[in-house]
Amino acid sequence: MNRKSAIGIFDSGLGGLTVMSAVTKLMPKENIIYFGDTAHVPYGSKSKKVVTDFSLGISKFLVKHNVKIIVVACNTASAFSLDILKNNIKVPVIGVIRAGSVMAVKKTKNKKIGIIGTEGTIKSKAYIKEIKKYDKSIQTFSQACPLFVPLVEEGWFDKKITKDIIKEYLVNTVNKKIDTIILGCTHYPLLKKSIRQVIGEHINIVDSAVAVAYEVKKLLHEQNIENNSGKGKYIFYVSDCPEKFKKLGSNFFPQKIKNVKKVEIDK
Ligand code: DGL
Repeated sequence: MNRKSAIGIFDSGLGGLTVMSAVTKLMPKENIIYFGDTAHVPYGSKSKKVVTDFSLGISKFLVKHNVKIIVVACNTASAFSLDILKNNIKVPVIGVIRAGSVMAVKKTKNKKIGIIGTEGTIKSKAYIKEIKKYDKSIQTFSQACPLFVPLVEEGWFDKKITKDIIKEYLVNTVNKKIDTIILGCTHYPLLKKSIRQVIGEHINIVDSAVAVAYEVKKLLHEQNIENNSGKGKYIFYVSDCPEKFKKLGSNFFPQKIKNVKKVEIDK
């Protein structure tokens, strides 16, 4: 393992490309191996045990490919499995929950934070636990938004029906007078514009994808393993349907997605 070794990023499918996008924007020289578990998506409605087994298998695969760090782009996997991954994987593992929480704690002035995510992420209370580590007096208001992922996968980012659904999910949370909301799911940054229109300008929107990219940069710098020459190369692995990944991936990642390989992961 050295500076040139890749950053490993994994997700249940396509959504983690929003994290990869933020990472490549901030660190264009880094090589990246991305794994999308397209055979098992969605993770958001699955149990902790199942998501953890998938996450461990993928992390071991990435370590075999000599990655220098693993970024768990999936919020559900971060919420359910981060500690287990940290204890079982020999490279540093970073999840999205801490970075998003820290950013939200910094932004809130009235100490009322809304959290949205998959059923799994919300049920785990992972964001709440993290936020309370920094400030116990912050009030949190959580809402699972299970229809957001399929809307994004369908490319329905700003249709009327999408905004109606956003309104339906968020009205109660917004009524609690939150001043900050965490987009606690890989897919939600693609709904940011519509969410902004529904909730108004006065609420800070925290994008965990951007927050985690800064955390990765800091860690690479601290450990002196940043790649500082050349342009990063990207390899994509999926567990099913590489063609579909290539096609839909352009909604999530601004560069052309080439080099998608299908692999099977041992449990
Ligand atoms: N990647 C998941 C997350 O961020 C969303 C999609 C899924 O349910 O697998 O929680």
